[in-house]
Amino acid sequence: MSDKDTKSGTPIATRQLLHTSRPIFEQGTPGRSGASLPPLDVPAIDAAKAFGALARGDGGPGLPEVSEVEVTRHYTRLSRWNYAIDIGLYPLGSCTMKYNPKVNERAARMPGFAGLHPAQPESTVEGALELMWGLERALCEIGGFARVTLQPAAGAQGELAGVMMIRAYHADKGRRPAKVLIPDSAHGTNPASCALNSMETVGLKTGADGLLHVEAVKEACAAHKDNIAAIMITNPSTLGLFEEQLGEIADVVHEAGGLVYMDGANLNALLGKVRPGEAGVDVMHINLHKTFTTPHGGGGPGSGVVGVVSKLEPYLPTPTVEKTGDKYRLEYNRPKSIGRLRSFFGNFGMFIRAYSYIRELGGPGLTLATEMAVLNANYIRARLAGSYSLAYDKPSMHEVVFTDKKLKRETGVQTLDVAKRLMDFGYHPPTIYFPLPAVTGGAGALMIEPTETETPETLDSFCDAMAAIAEEAKRDPEIAKNAPHETALRRLDETRAARNPKLRWTRE
Ligand SMILES: Cc1ncc(COP(=O)(O)O)c(C=O)c1O
Repeated sequence: MSDKDTKSGTPIATRQLLHTSRPIFEQGTPGRSGASLPPLDVPAIDAAKAFGALARGDGGPGLPEVSEVEVTRHYTRLSRWNYAIDIGLYPLGSCTMKYNPKVNERAARMPGFAGLHPAQPESTVEGALELMWGLERALCEIGGFARVTLQPAAGAQGELAGVMMIRAYHADKGRRPAKVLIPDSAHGTNPASCALNSMETVGLKTGADGLLHVEAVKEACAAHKDNIAAIMITNPSTLGLFEEQLGEIADVVHEAGGLVYMDGANLNALLGKVRPGEAGVDVMHINLHKTFTTPHGGGGPGSGVVGVVSKLEPYLPTPTVEKTGDKYRLEYNRPKSIGRLRSFFGNFGMFIRAYSYIRELGGPGLTLATEMAVLNANYIRARLAGSYSLAYDKPSMHEVVFTDKKLKRETGVQTLDVAKRLMDFGYHPPTIYFPLPAVTGGAGALMIEPTETETPETLDSFCDAMAAIAEEAKRDPEIAKNAPHETALRRLDETRAARNPKLRWTRE
């Protein structure tokens, strides 16, 4: 039997999905329910009397009233429209969508961990504290730092914590420098973290080779003499390039009285190769959810742990985990601490997964993971350099950035079209239009990060698809311009969906 409807050309599976594609708010009928509860055997309460102004009005919660089978089909249908790393290559640059080994999940689900309550007395959670302590020691070893706080819930909060510690360090010395140097290739969270700390950012232009040059840093330090709080530098940068002058740059910033913050969200390219704390970096966040295979996407949970050299140790958030003899405890008495950053101790489930990954691979395994990630990115770079323009003609680290420069000029097909067409080939699109056109010579970026977990066969299939799209664009650009064709829904109005989310959640 053909898997296509001969009349419409639409795959049968897709038609079946479209058949039931009504939003859940348009399904069901008043009074229908998926639950069968026993009759009430206690007196009913008058909500208005019991809760006063907090009582919900007569309208109820406004949820769809549907049967169990409608709910089951709704979520099953949504899951079949979804894409995940367990389905296929997820080349979303800068996000490091590597496969999360199931052994980590198994560890996180062990009843002794999963059943813990964060308010339990310390004496009953020694095992959890030992794991946190062990993870901190491993991360210190990997990054070359004196201490690591596990508290921040994500990279962005790690940055916030890092800049807060920088501010506290200067304040402790009686200074209030206000400027933070940030290259134009940085992630948007860097300037946001400065703004939240009432600091101003000074933009640094990367050179024609995509790298930050020490001259630009010297100039900025001279222009803002005695007012430099720090530099925030991402290494490898969001262009997938290694910042070769990091050591010299750190010296210049230190001489100017500032500290060096490294955005270590891309540490998966440096494991076993560079220990930033020994290369002039004072403080750095690591995204556990990127580097150490804790699941991420869809809003978390993540973990943006922060490593510091000894001079920043007094300012770490409280509590810290300490070990005395063979006992572990939480320490709250840190007079110079920036304080608590969030409820309890961090995203503990992420700690278990990261710890399990680190212990499973060990030093040599982590180094190999980095080498494979870099090799895979360079493989894609070499295979697709004939089909797409390279943003920078330099070897890649963990990710490679192409642009639509030549393709757009020759065929009119641009970055968004390529990303949409790729979905017809069964792949999640790469990150697009980041880094911004200012850093890619005005062209739309396609930022591809394969990660270390993909096989050569998968990389080849992906490259075949990308190359086929570029070839097809020369013959018939309209195919890509109107893509996707094979998905349940065609090209969406993404701006409207983002600006007018009410459309998605309101019952008519
Ligand atoms: C370079 C860089 N910095 C900061 C972040 C922010 O991390 P998060 O999304 O965990 O807040 C990311 C996220 O991927 C990143 O790639």
